[in-house]
Amino acid sequence: MTTESGPNRHGYHTFALGEFRFERDECFAHVVWPKGRHLLPVDAFLRALQRDVAWGFFYGIVNFDGVIGTVNHYGTVDLFAGRFNAHYRKAGLDYTESFATPLIQRAFEAMLEDWTNAAFDPFASPAETGSALGPKNGSNKRAISRHRVTAKRMVGCPGDEPTRSDERGFPVNRHFADVEQDPPDVEPEPGFEGEVVAFNLFAYLSRSDVTWNPSVVSVCKGSLYCPTTEEYVLPVIHGNDRVEWFVQLSDEIHWEVEDRDSGALRARVVMKAGDVAAMPADIRHRGFSPKRSMLLVWENASPELPQLYATGKMPPVPVEF
Ligand code: PHB
Ligand code: FE
Repeated sequence: MTTESGPNRHGYHTFALGEFRFERDECFAHVVWPKGRHLLPVDAFLRALQRDVAWGFFYGIVNFDGVIGTVNHYGTVDLFAGRFNAHYRKAGLDYTESFATPLIQRAFEAMLEDWTNAAFDPFASPAETGSALGPKNGSNKRAISRHRVTAKRMVGCPGDEPTRSDERGFPVNRHFADVEQDPPDVEPEPGFEGEVVAFNLFAYLSRSDVTWNPSVVSVCKGSLYCPTTEEYVLPVIHGNDRVEWFVQLSDEIHWEVEDRDSGALRARVVMKAGDVAAMPADIRHRGFSPKRSMLLVWENASPELPQLYATGKMPPVPVEF
């Protein structure tokens, strides 16, 4: 997948994927396609790339910025330039290519590994990591291949994802020093001792070492609770292919909500602790969290949903007022 045998003068390999080419220098990721080229600050690019890789291309669209991104078709993935940008579309400069998921997954993983230097952790908040810039300087395999939390039933269930503790390498984050750590009291009826499980979600989240990374902590059929801790700016602009519910568990996040296809601004939503919002199926959004906060993202993973929304069989909002 690399185009040349050796690294460039900055120490980084160049990657080709179909007609796309990705190059990095000290500051930028350069993306080249048959009808154009684009550049992104490399720290922003790596933060977006890390999430796209770790999430298996997520639900719907992952925009790295207003130009570059991926569309998940659950088996194949479109890599695009300018496709969800009204101006690129109008000028005929947009370009899309489809890949089998394992192929683009492997290419993105190789690029993430080669372009991430030792000091930089793409999942960490900018205040808790070193710089991504400069010539090639080591690697950070540990940071980019973190275990992805995907509970089968619920965190804390026997044989399922464990809770977090100092001993397991998850200290309480600096912004969550006031979060109580007590486990809940569980008083099951006699005979049901092995079947009742509870855990302290606030304590669990206070010990997250990553930002903007929803992880599955409970599953009931297609209903997935995917809480996450947020600080600074969501590194991707997520284009929905279904409705997503947000429950702001602590602090505050500002959301910029745009039309999914054109990028036209639709709303600015300020969510404070306790607020609940449904993000429509036809928007894209980016969050801004002034201090580390806790957000519950509630996903419906039912595979039939994208088709129902795309064909208009379901309205893009869960309630009409
Ligand atoms: C989202 O696009 O819905 C999203 C992604 C990552 C987060 C939170 C929300 O951490
Ligand atoms: Fe989203």
